[in-house]
Amino acid sequence: MTIVYLDNNATTKVDPEVTEEMLPCFDKFYPNPSGTHSLGKQAREKIDLARQRVAQGLDCSPEEIVFTSCGTEGDNAAINAALNSRPEKNHVVTTKVEHPAVLNYCRLLEEKGYRITYLDVDTAGNLDTEQLKNSLTPDTAVVSIMYANNETGVVFPVSRIAEIVKEKGILFHTDAVQAVGKTRISMQELPADYLTLSGHKLHAPKGVGALFVRRNAPFSPFIIGGSQEYGRRGGTENTPFIVALGKAMELAVNNLEHEYQHILNLRDYMEDKLLQSIPEARINGDRCNRLPNTSSFAIKDVSGEDVVLKLDEHSICASAGAACKAGSMEPSPVLKAMGVPFHYAKGCLRFSLSRFTTANEIEFLLQKFPGIVEEMRK
Ligand SMILES: Cc1ncc(COP(=O)(O)O)c(C=O)c1O
Repeated sequence: MTIVYLDNNATTKVDPEVTEEMLPCFDKFYPNPSGTHSLGKQAREKIDLARQRVAQGLDCSPEEIVFTSCGTEGDNAAINAALNSRPEKNHVVTTKVEHPAVLNYCRLLEEKGYRITYLDVDTAGNLDTEQLKNSLTPDTAVVSIMYANNETGVVFPVSRIAEIVKEKGILFHTDAVQAVGKTRISMQELPADYLTLSGHKLHAPKGVGALFVRRNAPFSPFIIGGSQEYGRRGGTENTPFIVALGKAMELAVNNLEHEYQHILNLRDYMEDKLLQSIPEARINGDRCNRLPNTSSFAIKDVSGEDVVLKLDEHSICASAGAACKAGSMEPSPVLKAMGVPFHYAKGCLRFSLSRFTTANEIEFLLQKFPGIVEEMRK
């Protein structure tokens, strides 16, 4: 039976073109890219090309890209660098709906004596920029606010947010792990100091990411070691995965408009049909202001976890909230922050589509899902 994979915010399938580009790095361009022999230089050229491709995708310069091991590292490294550069300040502003890569790092900072402001969101998952303005003090070193939410897909007005923060001379980081590859981002237009992305959300393998560091933004390495990444990250470069990320970025950016529309059409069709056929179900998050691929459903009086298991029996992969939260019956912090009532919150289910999602797969979901909910409610 074919698998209907609707859990792309957790991770995506590696694109075959990405695999093809990466494979020669295992048996041909395997030398250390720091090597001064010709094979080492060829490996270095591969990394340089990947850096150019990622930079092109973000409309920035290649020197502003630091390759990392994942989105979590990028998030941690950006906040760490910002705080290191402003040792006299001890206030950080973030939101209640960030990924644990930011939230738990902030909790650790709190234990170390930093003051953290966790901004609220409204019931549609939107952020009030007045609340942000009021939270900024002369003591604020850095603001870290995500570009788009991994559970609901809600997109924050990051350009406006960055402007507000930069007007006060405060450093700004955005976790764009869910946004990159799904929406066009230009670092010429977005005045952020740091931006994090992760390969496995855009059809590259798990275990590679990148951090954009604006040319004049302060930076100190998070991983201390050799002088790789122009002294910004120690550790021998993961040539195959960096090359993969470069190719994935190129594919995402070249096909963005076309894929955006394809995914959006499927997603909206799926939502309309499911809302018609499942009583007492609703969408979490602003319906207009969202990533095109993400649907978070709240279904009254069922357990999201149980529904996910039932869907799995039909080879449909979905997720009950964020991937890292699966297994817990506690509504996720995102749903709590949005004030989703408990009877709905525990029945929350996320479907996330990708360029590989087909109309047939959505039809298959539409055939199975309403019946499963009806059965469980009995
Ligand atoms: C918004 C967001 N930030 C950060 C991360 C962490 O990325 P990684 O899994 O590459 O560490 C994720 C992963 O789910 C995410 O969705």
